Amino acid sequence: MREKITKLITEVEAFAAETKDEVESFRIKYLGKKGVLADLFAEMKNIAPEMRKDFGQMVNELKVKAEDKLNGLQEVLQAAHDNAKQADLDLTLPGDPIALGSRHPISLVRAEILRIFGRIGFTVADGPEIEDDWHNFTALNFPENHPARDMQDTFFISQEGGKDSIALRTHTSSIQVRVMEKSKPPIRILAPGRVYRNEAISARAHCFFHQVEGLYIDENVSFADLKQTLLYFAQEMFGSDAKIRLRPSYFPFTEPSAEMDVSCQICKGKGCNVCKYTGWLEIMGCGMVDPNVLTNCNIDPEKYSGYAFGMGIERIAMLKYDVKDLRLYSENDVRFLRQFSSSN
Ligand code: DAH
Repeated sequence: MREKITKLITEVEAFAAETKDEVESFRIKYLGKKGVLADLFAEMKNIAPEMRKDFGQMVNELKVKAEDKLNGLQEVLQAAHDNAKQADLDLTLPGDPIALGSRHPISLVRAEILRIFGRIGFTVADGPEIEDDWHNFTALNFPENHPARDMQDTFFISQEGGKDSIALRTHTSSIQVRVMEKSKPPIRILAPGRVYRNEAISARAHCFFHQVEGLYIDENVSFADLKQTLLYFAQEMFGSDAKIRLRPSYFPFTEPSAEMDVSCQICKGKGCNVCKYTGWLEIMGCGMVDPNVLTNCNIDPEKYSGYAFGMGIERIAMLKYDVKDLRLYSENDVRFLRQFSSSN
Protein backbone atom coordinates (compact mmCIF):
# COMPACT_ATOMS: atom_id res chain seq x y z
CA MET A 1 0.00 0.00 0.00
CA ARG A 2 2.78 2.36 1.03
CA GLU A 3 4.58 1.78 -2.22
CA LYS A 4 1.43 2.29 -4.19
CA ILE A 5 0.90 5.70 -2.62
CA THR A 6 4.55 6.71 -3.03
CA LYS A 7 4.25 5.82 -6.67
CA LEU A 8 1.09 7.85 -7.03
CA ILE A 9 2.82 10.85 -5.41
CA THR A 10 5.70 10.62 -7.90
CA GLU A 11 3.19 10.32 -10.69
CA VAL A 12 1.31 13.40 -9.56
CA GLU A 13 4.51 15.38 -9.17
CA ALA A 14 5.68 14.45 -12.62
CA PHE A 15 2.36 15.14 -14.32
CA ALA A 16 2.41 17.75 -17.05
CA ALA A 17 -0.46 18.99 -19.21
CA GLU A 18 -0.94 21.42 -22.01
CA THR A 19 -4.63 21.51 -22.64
CA LYS A 20 -7.69 22.20 -20.58
CA ASP A 21 -8.95 18.68 -21.24
CA GLU A 22 -5.77 17.12 -19.92
CA VAL A 23 -6.00 19.16 -16.77
CA GLU A 24 -9.63 18.19 -16.36
CA SER A 25 -8.89 14.49 -16.72
CA PHE A 26 -6.16 14.87 -14.12
CA ARG A 27 -8.70 16.39 -11.76
CA ILE A 28 -11.20 13.60 -12.40
CA LYS A 29 -8.61 10.88 -12.08
CA TYR A 30 -7.19 12.00 -8.74
CA LEU A 31 -9.64 14.34 -7.09
CA GLY A 32 -12.96 13.36 -8.69
CA LYS A 33 -15.82 11.74 -6.76
CA LYS A 34 -14.77 8.29 -7.95
CA GLY A 35 -11.11 9.15 -8.26
CA VAL A 36 -7.95 7.67 -6.78
CA LEU A 37 -8.15 9.70 -3.60
CA ALA A 38 -11.80 8.87 -2.96
CA ASP A 39 -10.89 5.17 -3.29
CA LEU A 40 -7.98 5.52 -0.91
CA PHE A 41 -10.10 7.30 1.69
CA ALA A 42 -12.71 4.55 1.35
CA GLU A 43 -9.97 2.02 1.88
CA MET A 44 -9.18 3.53 5.27
CA LYS A 45 -11.64 1.30 7.14
CA ASN A 46 -9.89 -1.85 5.89
CA ILE A 47 -6.49 -0.83 7.17
CA ALA A 48 -5.27 -2.35 10.41
CA PRO A 49 -5.76 0.19 13.23
CA GLU A 50 -2.02 0.46 14.04
CA MET A 51 -1.25 1.31 10.40
CA ARG A 52 -4.12 3.69 9.95
CA LYS A 53 -2.36 6.85 11.14
CA ASP A 54 0.56 6.31 8.82
CA PHE A 55 -1.75 5.48 5.93
CA GLY A 56 -3.89 8.56 6.60
CA GLN A 57 -0.86 10.83 6.55
CA MET A 58 0.32 9.47 3.23
CA VAL A 59 -3.08 9.75 1.59
CA ASN A 60 -3.27 13.30 2.85
CA GLU A 61 0.11 14.10 1.41
CA LEU A 62 -1.06 12.74 -1.94
CA LYS A 63 -4.20 14.85 -1.71
CA VAL A 64 -2.27 18.06 -0.99
CA LYS A 65 0.18 17.32 -3.84
CA ALA A 66 -2.69 16.63 -6.28
CA GLU A 67 -4.50 19.82 -5.30
CA ASP A 68 -1.33 21.91 -5.60
CA LYS A 69 -0.62 20.44 -8.98
CA LEU A 70 -4.17 21.12 -10.17
CA ASN A 71 -4.07 24.75 -8.96
CA GLY A 72 -0.69 25.27 -10.61
CA LEU A 73 -1.92 23.84 -13.92
CA GLN A 74 -5.10 25.93 -13.83
CA GLU A 75 -3.11 29.11 -13.21
CA VAL A 76 -0.82 28.38 -16.13
CA LEU A 77 -3.84 27.77 -18.37
CA GLN A 78 -5.54 30.99 -17.23
CA ALA A 79 -2.40 33.04 -17.86
CA ALA A 80 -2.11 31.55 -21.34
CA HIS A 81 -5.76 32.40 -21.96
CA ASP A 82 -5.27 36.02 -20.78
CA ASN A 83 -2.22 36.42 -22.99
CA ALA A 84 -4.14 35.17 -25.99
CA LYS A 85 -6.90 37.63 -25.26
CA GLN A 86 -4.41 40.49 -25.04
CA ALA A 87 -2.94 39.49 -28.33
CA ASP A 88 -6.46 39.84 -29.77
CA LEU A 89 -6.69 43.41 -28.48
CA ASP A 90 -6.80 45.89 -31.33
CA LEU A 91 -5.50 49.16 -30.00
CA THR A 92 -6.47 50.98 -33.17
CA LEU A 93 -10.20 50.39 -32.58
CA PRO A 94 -12.16 53.47 -31.48
CA GLY A 95 -12.85 53.52 -27.72
CA ASP A 96 -16.20 52.83 -26.09
CA PRO A 97 -18.11 56.11 -25.94
CA ILE A 98 -18.44 57.64 -22.45
CA ALA A 99 -21.98 58.89 -21.88
CA LEU A 100 -21.75 62.60 -21.11
CA GLY A 101 -24.21 64.06 -18.62
CA SER A 102 -25.77 67.47 -19.05
CA ARG A 103 -26.12 70.27 -16.55
CA HIS A 104 -29.37 70.46 -14.65
CA PRO A 105 -31.73 73.23 -15.88
CA ILE A 106 -31.80 74.73 -12.37
CA SER A 107 -27.99 74.91 -12.36
CA LEU A 108 -27.99 76.48 -15.81
CA VAL A 109 -30.47 79.18 -14.84
CA ARG A 110 -28.73 79.85 -11.52
CA ALA A 111 -25.39 80.24 -13.32
CA GLU A 112 -27.00 82.62 -15.82
CA ILE A 113 -28.50 84.78 -13.04
CA LEU A 114 -25.16 84.92 -11.21
CA ARG A 115 -23.37 85.82 -14.45
CA ILE A 116 -25.79 88.65 -15.27
CA PHE A 117 -25.50 90.25 -11.84
CA GLY A 118 -21.78 89.42 -11.63
CA ARG A 119 -21.19 91.77 -14.55
CA ILE A 120 -22.48 94.69 -12.48
CA GLY A 121 -20.44 93.90 -9.40
CA PHE A 122 -22.58 91.46 -7.38
CA THR A 123 -20.60 88.77 -5.58
CA VAL A 124 -21.99 85.48 -4.27
CA ALA A 125 -22.84 84.82 -0.62
CA ASP A 126 -23.92 81.62 1.08
CA GLY A 127 -25.76 80.60 4.24
CA PRO A 128 -27.03 77.48 6.02
CA GLU A 129 -30.19 75.60 5.01
CA ILE A 130 -30.98 74.96 8.68
CA GLU A 131 -31.70 78.37 10.15
CA ASP A 132 -32.65 79.89 13.47
CA ASP A 133 -35.71 82.05 13.99
CA TRP A 134 -33.63 85.24 14.14
CA HIS A 135 -32.14 84.95 10.65
CA ASN A 136 -35.19 83.51 8.92
CA PHE A 137 -37.87 85.66 10.57
CA THR A 138 -37.19 88.00 13.49
CA ALA A 139 -34.33 90.08 12.05
CA LEU A 140 -36.35 90.36 8.84
CA ASN A 141 -39.08 92.20 10.73
CA PHE A 142 -41.66 89.41 10.72
CA PRO A 143 -44.29 90.20 13.36
CA GLU A 144 -44.51 87.55 16.04
CA ASN A 145 -47.81 86.15 14.78
CA HIS A 146 -47.02 86.37 11.08
CA PRO A 147 -48.58 83.43 9.19
CA ALA A 148 -45.26 82.62 7.49
CA ARG A 149 -44.01 81.42 10.88
CA ASP A 150 -46.90 79.01 10.99
CA MET A 151 -46.27 75.29 11.02
CA GLN A 152 -48.17 75.02 7.78
CA ASP A 153 -45.45 76.87 5.91
CA THR A 154 -42.34 76.03 7.84
CA PHE A 155 -40.59 72.75 8.52
CA PHE A 156 -39.51 73.18 12.12
CA ILE A 157 -36.66 71.13 13.50
CA SER A 158 -37.12 72.16 17.12
CA GLN A 159 -39.09 74.57 19.35
CA GLU A 160 -41.91 74.90 16.82
CA GLY A 161 -42.74 78.53 16.07
CA GLY A 162 -41.00 80.11 19.05
CA LYS A 163 -38.13 82.62 19.11
CA ASP A 164 -35.72 79.76 19.84
CA SER A 165 -36.96 77.64 17.00
CA ILE A 166 -34.71 76.02 14.42
CA ALA A 167 -36.19 75.36 10.98
CA LEU A 168 -35.35 74.65 7.36
CA ARG A 169 -35.03 78.12 5.84
CA THR A 170 -38.17 79.22 4.03
CA HIS A 171 -36.36 81.77 1.86
CA THR A 172 -32.85 82.92 1.00
CA SER A 173 -33.57 86.32 2.59
CA SER A 174 -32.00 84.83 5.73
CA ILE A 175 -28.63 85.18 3.98
CA GLN A 176 -29.16 88.98 3.74
CA VAL A 177 -29.19 89.11 7.52
CA ARG A 178 -26.07 86.97 7.84
CA VAL A 179 -24.17 89.12 5.34
CA MET A 180 -25.26 92.45 6.86
CA GLU A 181 -24.36 91.24 10.35
CA LYS A 182 -20.78 90.53 9.39
CA SER A 183 -19.89 93.10 6.75
CA LYS A 184 -19.93 96.88 6.38
CA PRO A 185 -21.58 98.70 3.45
CA PRO A 186 -21.17 98.94 0.56
CA ILE A 187 -22.69 95.46 0.27
CA ARG A 188 -23.62 94.03 -3.10
CA ILE A 189 -24.38 90.32 -2.99
CA LEU A 190 -26.40 87.61 -4.62
CA ALA A 191 -27.37 84.60 -2.50
CA PRO A 192 -28.56 81.48 -4.32
CA GLY A 193 -29.84 78.48 -2.40
CA ARG A 194 -32.41 75.81 -1.71
CA VAL A 195 -35.43 76.69 0.43
CA TYR A 196 -38.15 74.59 2.03
CA ARG A 197 -41.88 75.05 2.58
CA ASN A 198 -44.42 72.73 4.05
CA GLU A 199 -46.68 72.56 1.00
CA ALA A 200 -48.51 69.75 -0.76
CA ILE A 201 -46.53 68.76 -3.86
CA SER A 202 -48.24 69.55 -7.16
CA ALA A 203 -47.34 70.85 -10.63
CA ARG A 204 -47.21 74.40 -9.22
CA ALA A 205 -45.87 73.91 -5.68
CA HIS A 206 -43.13 71.84 -4.10
CA CYS A 207 -41.83 71.35 -0.58
CA PHE A 208 -38.39 72.52 -1.69
CA PHE A 209 -37.24 74.81 -4.45
CA HIS A 210 -34.49 77.30 -5.22
CA GLN A 211 -34.21 81.05 -4.88
CA VAL A 212 -31.71 83.77 -5.56
CA GLU A 213 -31.69 86.71 -3.19
CA GLY A 214 -30.11 90.03 -4.11
CA LEU A 215 -29.03 92.79 -1.75
CA TYR A 216 -27.43 96.17 -2.31
CA ILE A 217 -26.68 98.52 0.61
CA ASP A 218 -24.80 101.80 0.33
CA GLU A 219 -25.28 105.52 0.86
CA ASN A 220 -28.04 107.04 -1.26
CA VAL A 221 -29.40 103.84 -2.83
CA SER A 222 -32.82 104.61 -4.24
CA PHE A 223 -35.83 102.84 -5.69
CA ALA A 224 -34.73 104.12 -9.12
CA ASP A 225 -31.49 102.11 -8.73
CA LEU A 226 -33.55 99.02 -7.98
CA LYS A 227 -35.80 99.55 -10.98
CA GLN A 228 -32.93 100.09 -13.40
CA THR A 229 -31.00 97.06 -12.10
CA LEU A 230 -34.06 94.84 -12.49
CA LEU A 231 -34.72 96.14 -16.01
CA TYR A 232 -31.12 95.31 -16.90
CA PHE A 233 -31.59 91.81 -15.47
CA ALA A 234 -34.87 91.18 -17.30
CA GLN A 235 -33.42 92.25 -20.65
CA GLU A 236 -30.28 90.14 -20.20
CA MET A 237 -32.31 87.12 -19.13
CA PHE A 238 -35.31 87.29 -21.45
CA GLY A 239 -34.19 89.45 -24.39
CA SER A 240 -33.47 93.11 -25.08
CA ASP A 241 -37.13 93.84 -25.87
CA ALA A 242 -38.31 92.63 -22.43
CA LYS A 243 -40.26 95.18 -20.41
CA ILE A 244 -40.86 95.19 -16.68
CA ARG A 245 -43.50 96.57 -14.38
CA LEU A 246 -43.54 96.91 -10.60
CA ARG A 247 -46.75 96.38 -8.66
CA PRO A 248 -47.08 97.52 -5.03
CA SER A 249 -46.95 94.60 -2.61
CA TYR A 250 -46.08 93.77 0.98
CA PHE A 251 -43.08 92.01 2.54
CA PRO A 252 -42.18 92.55 6.20
CA PHE A 253 -38.52 93.21 5.32
CA THR A 254 -38.97 95.87 2.62
CA GLU A 255 -40.69 99.24 2.59
CA PRO A 256 -41.95 100.05 0.05
CA SER A 257 -42.34 96.54 -1.43
CA ALA A 258 -43.17 95.51 -4.96
CA GLU A 259 -43.66 92.52 -7.17
CA MET A 260 -42.00 92.57 -10.54
CA ASP A 261 -43.58 91.33 -13.76
CA VAL A 262 -41.77 90.83 -17.03
CA SER A 263 -43.53 91.13 -20.37
CA CYS A 264 -44.49 87.71 -21.69
CA GLN A 265 -41.82 86.64 -24.16
CA ILE A 266 -44.01 83.96 -25.66
CA CYS A 267 -46.79 86.22 -26.97
CA LYS A 268 -44.77 89.47 -26.73
CA GLY A 269 -47.48 91.03 -24.60
CA LYS A 270 -50.43 90.11 -26.82
CA GLY A 271 -51.81 87.57 -24.39
CA CYS A 272 -51.49 83.77 -24.36
CA ASN A 273 -52.23 80.91 -22.00
CA VAL A 274 -48.76 81.10 -20.38
CA CYS A 275 -49.37 84.67 -19.19
CA LYS A 276 -53.07 83.93 -18.74
CA TYR A 277 -53.88 86.58 -21.36
CA THR A 278 -52.41 89.41 -19.27
CA GLY A 279 -49.21 89.88 -21.28
CA TRP A 280 -47.21 89.84 -18.00
CA LEU A 281 -45.47 87.21 -15.88
CA GLU A 282 -44.61 87.67 -12.23
CA ILE A 283 -40.98 86.80 -11.54
CA MET A 284 -39.85 88.27 -8.24
CA GLY A 285 -40.48 90.23 -5.05
CA CYS A 286 -38.41 93.29 -4.24
CA GLY A 287 -38.27 96.56 -2.34
CA MET A 288 -36.22 98.98 -0.26
CA VAL A 289 -34.76 97.26 2.81
CA ASP A 290 -36.88 98.21 5.82
CA PRO A 291 -34.96 100.47 8.27
CA ASN A 292 -35.88 98.01 11.06
CA VAL A 293 -33.97 95.28 9.24
CA LEU A 294 -30.90 97.51 8.88
CA THR A 295 -31.05 98.33 12.60
CA ASN A 296 -31.41 94.64 13.49
CA CYS A 297 -28.21 93.99 11.54
CA ASN A 298 -26.26 96.90 13.10
CA ILE A 299 -26.34 99.09 10.00
CA ASP A 300 -27.27 102.74 10.56
CA PRO A 301 -30.50 103.43 8.60
CA GLU A 302 -29.83 107.19 8.81
CA LYS A 303 -26.65 106.78 6.83
CA TYR A 304 -27.39 103.80 4.60
CA SER A 305 -30.25 102.57 2.47
CA GLY A 306 -30.57 99.65 0.12
CA TYR A 307 -32.72 97.42 -1.98
CA ALA A 308 -33.36 93.70 -1.95
CA PHE A 309 -35.04 91.27 -4.29
CA GLY A 310 -35.76 87.58 -4.36
CA MET A 311 -36.70 85.27 -7.20
CA GLY A 312 -37.49 81.58 -7.64
CA ILE A 313 -35.08 79.78 -9.96
CA GLU A 314 -37.68 77.16 -10.95
CA ARG A 315 -40.06 79.96 -11.90
CA ILE A 316 -37.49 81.57 -14.24
CA ALA A 317 -36.58 78.14 -15.64
CA MET A 318 -40.26 77.39 -16.28
CA LEU A 319 -40.57 80.58 -18.31
CA LYS A 320 -37.28 80.11 -20.11
CA TYR A 321 -37.85 76.48 -21.07
CA ASP A 322 -41.64 76.43 -21.06
CA VAL A 323 -41.75 73.56 -18.56
CA LYS A 324 -44.98 73.80 -16.61
CA ASP A 325 -44.64 71.03 -14.03
CA LEU A 326 -42.33 71.87 -11.11
CA ARG A 327 -41.97 68.23 -10.17
CA LEU A 328 -39.93 67.49 -13.28
CA TYR A 329 -37.04 69.49 -11.83
CA SER A 330 -36.52 67.11 -8.94
CA GLU A 331 -37.52 63.73 -10.35
CA ASN A 332 -34.20 63.25 -12.15
CA ASP A 333 -35.71 61.57 -15.18
CA VAL A 334 -32.81 61.51 -17.63
CA ARG A 335 -35.19 61.82 -20.59
CA PHE A 336 -36.07 65.26 -19.22
CA LEU A 337 -32.57 66.23 -18.08
CA ARG A 338 -30.88 65.23 -21.35
CA GLN A 339 -32.69 68.01 -23.17
CA PHE A 340 -30.66 70.75 -21.51
CA SER A 341 -27.16 71.38 -22.68
CA SER A 342 -24.68 73.74 -21.11
CA SER A 343 -24.68 75.93 -24.18
CA ASN A 344 -28.21 77.05 -23.28
N1 DAH B 1 -38.28 86.24 0.50
C1 DAH B 1 -39.38 86.44 -0.42
C2 DAH B 1 -40.07 85.10 -0.66
O1 DAH B 1 -39.53 84.09 -0.38
C3 DAH B 1 -38.90 87.00 -1.72
C4 DAH B 1 -38.43 88.40 -1.58
C5 DAH B 1 -39.34 89.44 -1.71
C6 DAH B 1 -37.12 88.68 -1.29
C7 DAH B 1 -38.93 90.73 -1.59
C8 DAH B 1 -36.70 89.99 -1.15
C9 DAH B 1 -37.62 91.02 -1.31
O2 DAH B 1 -35.45 90.31 -0.86
O3 DAH B 1 -37.20 92.29 -1.20
O4 DAH B 1 -41.17 85.09 -1.13
